[in-house]
Amino acid sequence: MKKYHVAVVGVGVVGIEILKCLKSRSFPIANLRVFARSARAIEVEGIEYEVEAIGDERFDGVEIALFAGTEGEKGASKLYAHKFIEKGAIVVDNGADFRLEHDVPLVVPEANRDAVKNHKGLIANPNCTTIQAIVALCGIHREFGLERILLTSFQATSGAGKKAAMKLWEEARTLVNINRNKEFDEIHKDVDSEFDVFSHQIAFNVIPQIGGFAEDGYTSEEWKVVNETHKILNDDSIRISSTCVRVPVFTAHSEAIYFETKKDADHAQIEKVLKDSEGVKYFADSSFPLPLEVEGTDLTYVARLRRDPFNKNCFWIWVVADNLRKGAALNAVQIAEELTK
Ligand SMILES: NC(=O)c1ccc[n+]([C@@H]2O[C@H](COP(=O)([O-])OP(=O)(O)OC[C@H]3O[C@@H](n4cnc5c(N)ncnc54)[C@H](OP(=O)(O)O)[C@@H]3O)[C@@H](O)[C@H]2O)c1
Repeated sequence: MKKYHVAVVGVGVVGIEILKCLKSRSFPIANLRVFARSARAIEVEGIEYEVEAIGDERFDGVEIALFAGTEGEKGASKLYAHKFIEKGAIVVDNGADFRLEHDVPLVVPEANRDAVKNHKGLIANPNCTTIQAIVALCGIHREFGLERILLTSFQATSGAGKKAAMKLWEEARTLVNINRNKEFDEIHKDVDSEFDVFSHQIAFNVIPQIGGFAEDGYTSEEWKVVNETHKILNDDSIRISSTCVRVPVFTAHSEAIYFETKKDADHAQIEKVLKDSEGVKYFADSSFPLPLEVEGTDLTYVARLRRDPFNKNCFWIWVVADNLRKGAALNAVQIAEELTK
């Protein structure tokens, strides 16, 4: 079996999970290089990795590069992805910088693995919120068509990176320690934090804003769900709208998804599709997955299938998945696996 020269760029929460996934899935690696802004040694699951400071001259020989740096002009992808590609690498990018470019496949293998073949050096990993919705819904779309999707997400803090997860921890600890001896109504809610990530306190709170606001009142995260779902399912006719909410959970996003099928479908038919869907664990009884339980696992968990009693062909599901694994690192490694086939 051919072995590959692999690079991982970024060792934040997603980059670390990529290193774990490469190892646990025995990805065929001839040589692994790890890059970040600064050089250092890191230890992941007992293995020491030498992290190199990224620089313009260092990309020769890399065949597959998994990018998990931050987004935007100063982020790793904008600065270095095309330099890796020029040197012969295929880049799988976790960020949003290139996802909607027409010659960049946006891939969730369970839904559109063949799109990988159309790459021109760059393949994008969708947003974490989109990925788990797609895994849950793509079988239903294939079988019955989707007319409409309404999605409300309950997103973990780690979805905004390592600092964001640390902020929840720090705020919770500060509030509990400072306020232990105070009466409930005396509790001062504002906590100073060195991790200035969210617009409001996240501990013991929920924030109905992820990303910046557009003029229409939706946030960038909410538009990602729409645009990325259309692109992955190759169907712009699906009417999609979402509300994305940050909740005080460290890892694993939850979503309440309401959908309407194009063809007639009943509860039993939808249930059968969910039971048979690749990457899905379906809960047929009244039990349900919780973020705390799914952290560190690879499947997308679907529960609480209900038919809308007032509208034909309309259903609710509850969907939970680890945002760092299926929502990011695992999906990227699965794309890399497609490249090796
Ligand atoms: N967190 C999620 O659930 C999730 C889900 C889907 C997609 N994503 C996307 O995945 C990417 C990584 O997210 P994350 O949550 O892991 O972020 P993070 O925890 O903030 O880590 C970012 C990493 O990127 C490195 N980095 C930043 N700018 C760089 C540059 N110019 N050159 C090289 N390395 C650079 C940082 O290096 P240093 O360590 O040296 O500072 C750090 O290791 C982002 O694009 C994010 O949008 C995240």
